[in-house]
Amino acid sequence: MISLRVNGEHRELDVDPAMPLLWALRENLAMTGTKFGCGIAQCGACTVHLNGRAIRSCVTPVSAAEGGEVTTIEGLADRTPGEGLHPLQTAWIEKQVPQCGYCQSGQLMSAAALLDSNPNPDDAAIDAAMAGNVCRCGMYSRIKSAIKHAASQNRAVVQSFDPGASVNAEDDVGEKAHG
Ligand code: FES
Ligand code: FES
Repeated sequence: MISLRVNGEHRELDVDPAMPLLWALRENLAMTGTKFGCGIAQCGACTVHLNGRAIRSCVTPVSAAEGGEVTTIEGLADRTPGEGLHPLQTAWIEKQVPQCGYCQSGQLMSAAALLDSNPNPDDAAIDAAMAGNVCRCGMYSRIKSAIKHAASQNRAVVQSFDPGASVNAEDDVGEKAHG
């Protein structure tokens, strides 16, 4: 029996410990938001978080998640209860990122792990973090734009609570954030 937490809920899985985590998520827990693409850690479609790190669930045995915390695309919006959509999901909608959509849950999970570790990534950091996520529709520029947009929104929130910021500075931040 494998015990783990998935999107904040305790789960027990009576499965082969060598089974890929992706299989357990999709087949045993009916969480089909995480996709199978290549099965060999080359496309990123199966990306989830394990203890806060982006991992390829197609090549990660479920036993590696024993006692761990897994977050899938189904739980991305609920990581902080009451906060609604993750800022990346909002940015994805605003920038109209998805085409066929197949790669998108993996893209979002990689991007979310990036912003968790680096809230203000530059182009090189975004390229490095997203290099393993392939998009057959070629939406790379929109993905990068959405990540930058989400990062700028996060900075605006921080600055709006800066007691040293002037009212005018807050207005500037708000205008940029929405412009
Ligand atoms: S399905 Fe896991 S990296 Fe492609
Ligand atoms: S949106 Fe189609 S594969 Fe990325």
